[in-house]
This record gives sequence, C-alpha cells and structure tokens, in this order.
Amino acid sequence: MTAWLRNAWYVAGFADEFAAGRPLARTLLGEPLVFFRGEGGTLVALADRCPHRFAPLSAGRVCEGGAIECPYHGLRFDGDGRCVHNPHGGGAIPKAAAVRSYVVRERDRLVWLWAGDAAAADEALIPDFSRVTSAPDDAAVRGYMPTACDHQLLVDNILDLTHADYLHAGSLGSGALSRCRPQVTDLGERSARVAWISSGDLAPPAFDMHLREQGQPTDQWTEVTWTAPGCMLLNVGATLQGEPHSQGIDTLNLHLATPETEGRCHYWYWTTRNFAVVNAYSRRSAATRPPLAAIACSRISGSSSESRLR
Ligand code: FES
Repeated sequence: MTAWLRNAWYVAGFADEFAAGRPLARTLLGEPLVFFRGEGGTLVALADRCPHRFAPLSAGRVCEGGAIECPYHGLRFDGDGRCVHNPHGGGAIPKAAAVRSYVVRERDRLVWLWAGDAAAADEALIPDFSRVTSAPDDAAVRGYMPTACDHQLLVDNILDLTHADYLHAGSLGSGALSRCRPQVTDLGERSARVAWISSGDLAPPAFDMHLREQGQPTDQWTEVTWTAPGCMLLNVGATLQGEPHSQGIDTLNLHLATPETEGRCHYWYWTTRNFAVVNAYSRRSAATRPPLAAIACSRISGSSSESRLR
C-alpha cells in the first residue's frame, strides 16, 4: 500500500469547480471527501461519510448557514465537521456525531488540501503559481485528466523531459533535450529544479512555427521546478540564436498531480504563452486536443470541453 506524504499541500482542483450550494465529491489520497462552500462562501472539506449510517454527505444539500445536511436522516454538519442539527429525538446531539474536517485553502484560482496534521498546516508552503493562473484566458489552456498511474510517475515524466524528443518528435521534440546535459538544482527539502539549456538546435516544430523565421538555429530553455509532492512549474521557450529571450516565444505550464487512490491520480494542467494570444487559437487547440483530455474536462466542468478550455 502506498504511503503518501501527509503533511503537505495537494491541489484539490480549480477554484471555479466548487460552486456555492453544490457539494462536490472527490477522492484524494484514498479518502472520499466532500467539498462545499460553507458560511460566507468559505470552502470546506469533510470526510464524505456520515457518522450515523455512513451515507455520503456529498449526496446531501448545503443548508442556509453553510452546514451540509445528510441525505439519509437529516443530521447537519458545519465546516468543522461538528453536528449542529439533529431533527430527531428532541434535537439532542450525540458526542460521536462528528466527521473529520480538512484544512483547505484557495490560492490563485486553485484549491489546496493539507492532508496531514492540521496544526502543522503552513500556508507559506503553498507554491506561488500566480504567474500562470493570472494569465488572461485567451493566453491559457487548462484542463484535467483522470490518470491511471501513481502521481509519482507523472512527476517522473515531467522532471525527465528527454522523452519529448521521441514521444513528441513531431511537435515538442527537436533532439536538443537529449543532446544537452541537464542542470539540477536542489532548492531545499521540498523542491528541486531541472534545466536544459541549448544553443544552435532547431526549435521543436510547435515552437519553430511561431518564431520570426522558421528553420533557423535557436537558443532554447526548458526548466521545470518541482515542489513536493506533485506540483511542477515548467518554463519552455525558444528564440533565434543570439537574440534576447524577450524576442522569442515563451510558455509557462503547470502540471499538478494528486493521488486519488492506489495506482490512480488526478492530473490538472494549466498552460500560458506569450504568443498567439487570441481566443481563436485556444479554441483551435481545444478542438485538436486528444479525446481523453476533452472527455475529462467535460466531466469536471459539467459542460463542453470547448467552454472549459477557452
Ligand atoms: S446516515 Fe446520515 S443522518 Fe443517518
């Protein structure tokens, strides 16, 4: 059985997935949870299991005042997991009528869950991804893929991007990553950075087409910063050889992996670019994305992939 890191922040989703008045069920680190907006719209997360007869609270409703009502016999629980209403037997509230609550924070349009000891939850450890999440919608593409592997394999995939030269040879790979030596920087106990810097190679096809001249030697940078357990910020860009980076094209990409159950994880991505910043480009990207991503995006948004990825 996998021993996931507990005292750490995990992404639980995009903030706009969590609508007021609508409980959302999501399993993280093997634990079925219910998220809902309590009093004042504050997002809370509780174990998705009523202590009475174990009905899923996510099938219930959010009541006035921000408590969630169990769909089976009507016990209500507040954002701290305390039972605050019992419609039976004169309203007495049994001591054991409580559910586990989790520390949840919204930051930069993302929702974060602290999976361990609540007293140890340090908000300063939430990575700052505002450079990505504040990008205008017409310069961004985001989505979700339910993924049938441990989240550590996604981390492995993004931290070793030499696979792009082979797996994505027609789009994101040019051979430059395999030819240069990665620079690895230890950023402390929770983070590390890997960078591939090259000069003289052609840009990958997906980048070359957006440079001022095509088929020319370039300077390229690919840099990924990993924050444990599953957050990666990837910066990839290219410019004509010898020209400043500011004259080239640049992308910032979030890859966010959170364990769901044994052998499965949630995978959210969010990419921004400094070129082709028009709605039509994003719409075309969404239309040509592999079907799995499009299906997954429509699943979490309850709407079409087109609207999710706009
Ligand atoms: S199972 Fe929830 S109130 Fe009975």
